[in-house]
Amino acid sequence: MGNYNDIYNKWKIDPVGFWQETAQEIDWYVEPKKIYSNEEDSPSWFADGVCNTCYNCIDRHVKNGRGQQAAIIYDSPVTATQLKITYQEMQDLTSYAATMLLDLGVQKGDCVIIYMPMVPETIIAMLACARIGAVHSVVFGGFASKELATRIDDAKPKLIISASCGIEVNRIVPYKPLLDEAINLSTHKPQKNIILQRSMHISSLKEGRDYDWEECMKEIKRNNRHTDCARVQASDPLYILYTSGTTGKPKGIVRENGGHMVALKWTMSHIYDIAPGEVFWSASDVGWIVGHSYIVYAPLLQGATTLVYEGKPVGTPDAGAFWRVISEHKVVSLFTAPTAFRAIKKEDYTLHYLKKYDLSHFRALFLAGERADTETIKWAENALNVPVIDHWWQTETGWSIAANPLGIEKLPIKYGSAGVAMPGYDIQILDENNQEKSAGEIGTICVRLPLPPCCLQTLWQDTRGYKSAYISEFKGYYSTSDAGYKDEDGYVYVMSRTDDIINVAGHRLSTGGMEDVVASQKDVAECAVLGIKDDLKGQLPIGFVVLNAHVKSSDEEVAKAIIYKVRQDIGPVAAFKQVVFIPRLPKTRSGKILRGTLRKILDGQDWSMPATIDDPSIITEIIERLQQCGYKDLGKQV
Ligand code: COA
Ligand code: AMP
Repeated sequence: MGNYNDIYNKWKIDPVGFWQETAQEIDWYVEPKKIYSNEEDSPSWFADGVCNTCYNCIDRHVKNGRGQQAAIIYDSPVTATQLKITYQEMQDLTSYAATMLLDLGVQKGDCVIIYMPMVPETIIAMLACARIGAVHSVVFGGFASKELATRIDDAKPKLIISASCGIEVNRIVPYKPLLDEAINLSTHKPQKNIILQRSMHISSLKEGRDYDWEECMKEIKRNNRHTDCARVQASDPLYILYTSGTTGKPKGIVRENGGHMVALKWTMSHIYDIAPGEVFWSASDVGWIVGHSYIVYAPLLQGATTLVYEGKPVGTPDAGAFWRVISEHKVVSLFTAPTAFRAIKKEDYTLHYLKKYDLSHFRALFLAGERADTETIKWAENALNVPVIDHWWQTETGWSIAANPLGIEKLPIKYGSAGVAMPGYDIQILDENNQEKSAGEIGTICVRLPLPPCCLQTLWQDTRGYKSAYISEFKGYYSTSDAGYKDEDGYVYVMSRTDDIINVAGHRLSTGGMEDVVASQKDVAECAVLGIKDDLKGQLPIGFVVLNAHVKSSDEEVAKAIIYKVRQDIGPVAAFKQVVFIPRLPKTRSGKILRGTLRKILDGQDWSMPATIDDPSIITEIIERLQQCGYKDLGKQV
């Protein structure tokens, strides 16, 4: 671990010097002098630097001779389309799209919500915002109107950019009705929408409010109306990305321009080992943090080619889709969630499809977003014959807290571990008294403050919420809300969340948010939603529901209505399809629902009767009910 240790220690001895040197990789209009500041309790990296993220992602590469290289390869099996967009073309397109935003009244500092499928225009829209210093907030297309409305009310966008539709394996999803309904539900009313009309489904547009992307761009292109990159402070926000918190209200993670660029560019060489000009593929969605950091910003900051894939690992059309894309586009590294590989493994365990493709140029597979099970890692290693790297991070950090930094050196892989601490992160395992635990002991995984560049320093217009959620519980530390341990060599093992967040197919969801929806149904007296193990998606939500007395509808009808409501309010991505009706919820004497015990029973783990339970017979009732409903392999009482 020589090289890694050297670099990690270099950071540890002189963090400011380390990041000052790293910041040289970025083009600044005004180089930062203040590397780290914490004035009036408001921490910031490179605060007095002046820069532009779009310039560093696009224009600087054109200036340095990469104009004819592909910036984006769009591969869409669901529309049978492939397209290459060069850096030069991206410069023109982001410049024109920036003009379109200015024409429609968006100014520096304004927020723009982007509710789009996986098409190049989504990335052009993000970069156009960055170009003029507007703050984008991308909302994942699998979220429904109510979730979109919550984000509209929090971010207060001046304008929304959307598309007429997204395309799933088995259906076209019209976005415009979802957008209209969201605006109908929200208190804040954005003034204008830009709609990208896709030929598979054309939306009707309202004059004076909805603007056709192509129509606007056509006029701007015809008149060659370019917009230059605006100068922004490094500490100005680049984007807000909402992520699930413990309540129904999502948290608006704020990403600054300067620190974000510095950290992400470093990761491309040091963690992912990607050189400018190489093709990097992150098979995620732009609506998630993995998409923000590793479909859009990091590969483009590095001058690499990024792949925008509108499809799934299976079903578009088969389990060979990933191998085809890697082979056709000469992808050197792939980053995805373990669930994608579980899906491929389930459909094609014997690798029938892989045999068709030449993957000799492929170098590494990176997994994150959820715990990677050893069986899947070994299967992938065997299939691809390359290092399979598990690494761990969060929307809040924007890049790896722990990893195996291939670009520094390939460290020995330990199955079950997400690697070692990256420079910038002093990871400690703490107990409830703020004391560091010894190697091998489980506790809350925390990071000593200050957090490195790119990590959140506040929540959108909610500094108090930031402090209470992240830095109040463990004094002097950021709490990741993940539980786990470190071994003697400093390898980190991430085991579970310490809050009610679950991870469904690599998507982070709040069971609290689902409980709010279920509890709002008229027949429901009480409910508890929790995540249970699933072989494919990692976890799936299940709702335990106590009905009011004298409900007229059948259990089946009520369950259908509840499932429909969660899909309507949160979206299909919640994958909420299981409801179990029970007469009573198990609670402690002080009224706390014993979710942990229910989870153990459903996950087939040994469980013991909690000493604080109010009425132990309720657990017996629930086990009987689960057996009647066909749940097998329930945990045993010890
Ligand atoms: N717009 C509209 N609906 C969407 C959507 C979008 N952008 N994305 C997903 N959905 C829908 C799906 O169609 C599905 O609907 P259904 O209940 O009618 O079948 C539902 O949301 C659940 O989606 P998902 O959990 O993604 O399941 P899936 O069966 O479509 O695909 C995987 C399963 C494993 C193939 C897929 O989740 C995957 O590739 N995940 C790994 C990559 C990833 O994106 N990770 C995120 C962070 S790294
Ligand atoms: P998100 O903010 O959506 O990226 O989700 C972050 C959460 O996903 C983390 O707090 C972890 O709970 C989980 N997670 C991400 N990567 C890993 C990993 N490699 N191993 C285990 N859990 C992970």
